[in-house]
Amino acid sequence: MSDSTAGQNSPRSAVFRRSFRKTFPSAVRGEGVYLWDTEGKRYLDFSGSAAVNLIGHGTPEIAAAMTEQATQLEFVHTSQFTTPVAEDYARELLEFAGENFRGGAVYFTCGGSESVETALKLARQYQVEIGQTRRYQVLSRTQSYHGSTLGALSVSGNKRRREIYLPMVREFAHVGIPYCYRCAYDCTDGCRNCGQEYAAELERAIEAANGEAAAFIFEPISGATLGAVVPPPGYLQTVTEVCRRHGVLVIADEVMTGMGRTGRNFAVEHWDVAPDILIAAKGLSSGYAPLGAVIATKEVVDGIVSGSFLHGFTYNAHPVSLAAGRAVLHRLQQRRLVQASDSGREGSVAAKLERSLSTLLDLKTVGEVRGIGLLRGVEFVSDKQSKKPFAPDLNFAGRVTSAALKRGLLVYPIQGCVDGVSGDHLLIAPPAVITAEQIDWAIQQLRDSIEEAGAQ
Ligand SMILES: Cc1ncc(COP(=O)(O)O)c(C=O)c1O
Repeated sequence: MSDSTAGQNSPRSAVFRRSFRKTFPSAVRGEGVYLWDTEGKRYLDFSGSAAVNLIGHGTPEIAAAMTEQATQLEFVHTSQFTTPVAEDYARELLEFAGENFRGGAVYFTCGGSESVETALKLARQYQVEIGQTRRYQVLSRTQSYHGSTLGALSVSGNKRRREIYLPMVREFAHVGIPYCYRCAYDCTDGCRNCGQEYAAELERAIEAANGEAAAFIFEPISGATLGAVVPPPGYLQTVTEVCRRHGVLVIADEVMTGMGRTGRNFAVEHWDVAPDILIAAKGLSSGYAPLGAVIATKEVVDGIVSGSFLHGFTYNAHPVSLAAGRAVLHRLQQRRLVQASDSGREGSVAAKLERSLSTLLDLKTVGEVRGIGLLRGVEFVSDKQSKKPFAPDLNFAGRVTSAALKRGLLVYPIQGCVDGVSGDHLLIAPPAVITAEQIDWAIQQLRDSIEEAGAQ
């Protein structure tokens, strides 16, 4: 056994892993949509790890950009220097984020949770500096995920990931989230009208906060917790109007949905919504380096009249991560990967993925396939008619995932979409360089895996 694999199946690895019970293959190489482990087994990455990779694995240009930066200058502290890579990349990102962010600024972090923490604190400081000192609460939604640090957990709704830490977090109001397959208002019109009911819940929560609401944070398309649930028409527009009317900042958490994943640069563009603060991570660097960004409008940045944001991490705006992110952005644009991710565009791989995934609906355990672009969800049910979920202990999504792994297919399983505990779904989010043939192969493996899990 080589040093790198030692301990893989021994009683305890020296790595503090996510699970002590599971055995993990050891990954050594990636190229395009594929990953390989130390045994030489190949996996098709049908979930972009966890909706991270959009440009494909093993792209030499990104490694070259990182090497060049590390060779020239590996690090400086943001209290002492800015860098050309930070300045150039921030300008390009503002441009990529669109007209709404003209004259704004980008705060760079090392990932999604750090970005959410940064956005929460920025919202508070902005409100204080414009004289709204009573505003500190950040409202959010029940079935949502915004990260694993305590501040991010406080605005998350994901029950399983929060439960034992609740005594440690500061709680603000969580409002309902439109989830049409299991609509709380029992609608029959695809949530056309009840989007407004959900938006009204937010308005009531803001009023109940009694002048203390500073911001509202949301995922434009539900990521992990509900599995690619797309909001009904009009909902996000109304939510934004409600926030504006009440002086509450709008924070769009696009850690999963941003940087092209849904066929737009940012998912809010599907609904012409203009947030005050936009959060990106995951696809920002496509996984080549730890990187997150908080993109603020001119109005928010101008609001910090004291001239300094009372916040910082040693590694924010790390030059090597920024070099990776910048090279990823260039690749995304050169290869037209946002267009490839647009399922509304004829001939795109995203349109092909949508069509292919829908063929799974003939399986008796597949209740719904949903999503947009290259962010898709497959929800499992034990009874299609009543939409009854599987018992959580069965871990149906986990079983499908294990069956898929055996076949060399990677998917991302999650439980709790129904009520935080029950409900099984998979997230499908492949790199945009996937081909039609690779999609066909993946769908066949997924079909076989679902049938195998159902037969157990
Ligand atoms: C919407 C959203 N926000 C925040 C996060 C946290 O990001 P990170 O895991 O990079 O800290 C995630 C991670 O899945 C996410 O999906």
